[in-house]
Amino acid sequence: MSAILMDGKQVSLAVKDTLKERMPALKAQFGRVPCLTVIIVGENPASQSYVRGKVKACEYVGMDSRQVSLPESVSEEELLAIIGDLNRDDAVDGILVQLPLPKHIDESKVLEEIVPAKDVDGFHPSNVADLWLGRKCIVPCTPKGVMRLLEAHGIDPAGKLAVVIGRSNIVGKPVSKLLLDRNATVVMAHSRTKNLKELTLQADILVVAVGRAGLVTGDMVKPGAAVIDVGINRLDDGKLHGDVDAATVEPVAGYLTPVPGGVGPMTIAMLMENTVECFLRK
Ligand code: GUN
Repeated sequence: MSAILMDGKQVSLAVKDTLKERMPALKAQFGRVPCLTVIIVGENPASQSYVRGKVKACEYVGMDSRQVSLPESVSEEELLAIIGDLNRDDAVDGILVQLPLPKHIDESKVLEEIVPAKDVDGFHPSNVADLWLGRKCIVPCTPKGVMRLLEAHGIDPAGKLAVVIGRSNIVGKPVSKLLLDRNATVVMAHSRTKNLKELTLQADILVVAVGRAGLVTGDMVKPGAAVIDVGINRLDDGKLHGDVDAATVEPVAGYLTPVPGGVGPMTIAMLMENTVECFLRK
């Protein structure tokens, strides 16, 4: 037995194609297509590659995009002023600040500056509050992409034990809430969890979002489980590796997301959806 690989490229392409088909009607109704603005600070190669992927996806779908590239030395004040301008710009529907930011810039302050209505990442405290209160909100892209991949493979979290490793604001916390909303029993594990293997061996759904290559090995996985690997680690071999050791997990798991080509493309597709959602809410 070998796990079914969850093809994020294919599912994300279907999402993008659906959006692409809607563009002519949006243009006819509103006189323009949605516009995403991506802000990148500094020259982190990984961030640059992610931003290129986001801009390329806008082109594919037929949406407008703008890229604001700022030097590493940009001051917090300047960055906040640029966000303020974009907040007031009626031609801009979504604003995304690529993370991480340089140390001299307060990330929370920056994320709070984006008006919630244009917060395509769903990182603004008001969107976070709406998510946890069960209100309509912009759902963060990666967690939303994880849920969409499960759905596309007919995996219903209801009644299942879901173990999420990692408690970040970007992935671990929101994906736990989304799994809870779909009636999973959710365990949030992290670096201080003592009996990790004991927990993961019981997981029907295992989401790993830590940023440590090969953290989860086959001996930690329940046979038949759905294993979602959110990790993207570039190792010395120059290749991308997930947080899951695919070689030992694939023979045990029922489903596994590949890295690359699993969760990554889904994040971008969900960003496209969120941009259209912000556009339509205006
Ligand atoms: N850096 C890593 N993941 C993300 C994300 O989902 N959004 C933004 N803005 N930056 C990131």
